[in-house]
Amino acid sequence: MSFDLDAYLAERRRAVDAALERFLPAADTPPATVHEAMRYSVLAGGKRLRPILVIAGGEAVGGSMDAVMPTACAFELIHTYSLIHDDLPAMDDDDYRRGRLTSHKVFGEAIAILAGDALVTLAFALLAENASLDVVTEVAQAAGTFGMIGGQVVDIQSEGKSVDADTLEYIHSHKTAALIRAALRSGAILAGASPAALKAIGEAGSSLGLAFQIVDDILDVEGSLAELGKTAGSDRRKKKVTYPEHFGLEASRLKAKVLIEDAKATLAPLGPRAEPIRALADFIFQRRS
Ligand code: IPE
Ligand code: IPE
Ligand code: MG
Ligand code: MG
Ligand code: MG
Repeated sequence: MSFDLDAYLAERRRAVDAALERFLPAADTPPATVHEAMRYSVLAGGKRLRPILVIAGGEAVGGSMDAVMPTACAFELIHTYSLIHDDLPAMDDDDYRRGRLTSHKVFGEAIAILAGDALVTLAFALLAENASLDVVTEVAQAAGTFGMIGGQVVDIQSEGKSVDADTLEYIHSHKTAALIRAALRSGAILAGASPAALKAIGEAGSSLGLAFQIVDDILDVEGSLAELGKTAGSDRRKKKVTYPEHFGLEASRLKAKVLIEDAKATLAPLGPRAEPIRALADFIFQRRS
C-alpha cells in the first residue's frame, strides 16, 4: 500500500495544533493584547509544514512525535513571527495572511512587531524543554542573519533591481530553505541521528526548502486569495526578484521538480523510515496553497 500522506498530515496537524494551543499564553492573560495577537496569527491555521518536518526528521531515524513536540512548535512560532514581520508595511505590505487580515491591520504595527518578537522568545523557551544545545544553535543560526534574516535583508534590498541567478538563489535559500533544513535536522538531532543520516537529511532539507520557495513564487503568479489565504500578485506589485520573474514559469517548475527528485534521491540510504519526508517532498511540489 502506498503511503497515506493525507492521514499522516491530518494526525500530525491535530497534535501540533493542540500543543500550540497549550504552549501559547491564554488570550486574557495580561498583557492581553499581545497574547491575543500571538494567538490570532499562530492559530489562524497554516499548513504546519515546519513542525511536521521536525517530526518527520525524527521519525526518519526512529524517533517519535511526542519527544520532539516542543521543538516542532518552536519552529512554527518562529515561522509565524517571520510572516507577521514579512507582511508589515515596511516590508511586503500585505493585508491578508492565512485567510484573515494581517496582524498589523487588526492590532496596529506596534503590537504586530511585539507579537512577532514575543513568538521568537517563546520559541527559545520551548527549545529549552527539549534540552539540546545543538538544536538551539541550529535554530539560532537558521533564523538569524546567516539564515532567514539574511535572506529577508537581501530580498528587501533587491526590490526593483535585476539580480543574477546566484543572488536569487541566495535569497531563497536563506529566507526560506534555512529554516526548513533546520526543522528536518533538529528532529533528527533530537532522535539521535548518525552523522551520515544527519548529513543526508540536511541536504534533502536544503533542496526541499529551495523548491518550497520556488513553488511559493509560482503560486504568487498562478494562485488566488481564496486558495492561498494571502493576496496573489504581491511579488509583482513589490517588484520582487523571484524564480518565475527570472526564469519564467515553466523553467521554474522544472527547477523545483529537479530539487524535489534530488531530495528524494539523497534520502534513499535512510530506507522506508524516510517515506514521510519523501511524501512531503511531493506535497511541496504539488501543493496549491
Ligand atoms: C509562507 O510559508 C512563507 C514562505 C516561507 C514562503 P507557508 O506557505 O508555509 O505558510 P503557512 O504556514 O502555510 O501559512
Ligand atoms: C517570505 O517570503 C519568507 C519569510 C521568511 C517570511 P515571501 O514574502 O514570498 O512569503 P509570502 O509569499 O509573503 O508568504
Ligand atoms: Mg517577503
Ligand atoms: Mg511576503
Ligand atoms: Mg511569496
